[in-house]
Amino acid sequence: MHIGIYAGSFDPPTLGHIDILKRASRHFDRLVVCVARNTSKQALFSADEKMALLQSITAGMENVEIEQFEGLLVTHAKARGASALVRGIRTFSDFEYEFRMALTNRQLEPTLETVFLMTDGAYAHQSSSLIKEIAMMGGDISAMVPEAVRIAVQAKYQR
Ligand code: COA
Repeated sequence: MHIGIYAGSFDPPTLGHIDILKRASRHFDRLVVCVARNTSKQALFSADEKMALLQSITAGMENVEIEQFEGLLVTHAKARGASALVRGIRTFSDFEYEFRMALTNRQLEPTLETVFLMTDGAYAHQSSSLIKEIAMMGGDISAMVPEAVRIAVQAKYQR
């Protein structure tokens, strides 16, 4: 069985993430979406909240599973029996970071390949941080995130 891991901070999950995970799921028997618990980024959502959002968005995608992890991604991926790590590339400026991460992960765990998918052009300019900034200032994010995420983000800023 070919298992792919799509990991990230997903704070919050965006339509760009969902596009990557849908496309990636067609190339694996099972795609495990892994929400990172120990990220250096200041998070709006807890790992449990992000998991719940991702679970509701991917309900009906039969070979997609959502979970969270802590520590090194390669250790978790190896324990899950994965053969590949999936990453989305948005712009040229993503390349250097992704290149270094892929090579480091391969050095740590040579049996794991990193597979890159090009982000859909409609989402290539977006990021979770920009989306949070727009929502915080009362802007419309409905074209950038699934509806459940829009509601959850707006609820955070209405408190
Ligand atoms: N469309 C739109 N935006 C996208 C996108 C897409 N398809 N794919 C990614 N993004 C955005 C995200 O919204 C995010 O925006 P932000 O920086 O404003 O929050 C940014 O791109 C990158 O996010 P993401 O893809 O979630 O990755 P990440 O860099 O936050 O997560 C981990 C990286 C968690 C996978 C990595 O840090 C990791 O593996 N950590 C575990 C520890 C470890 O193993 N370290 C050694 C690594 S070599």
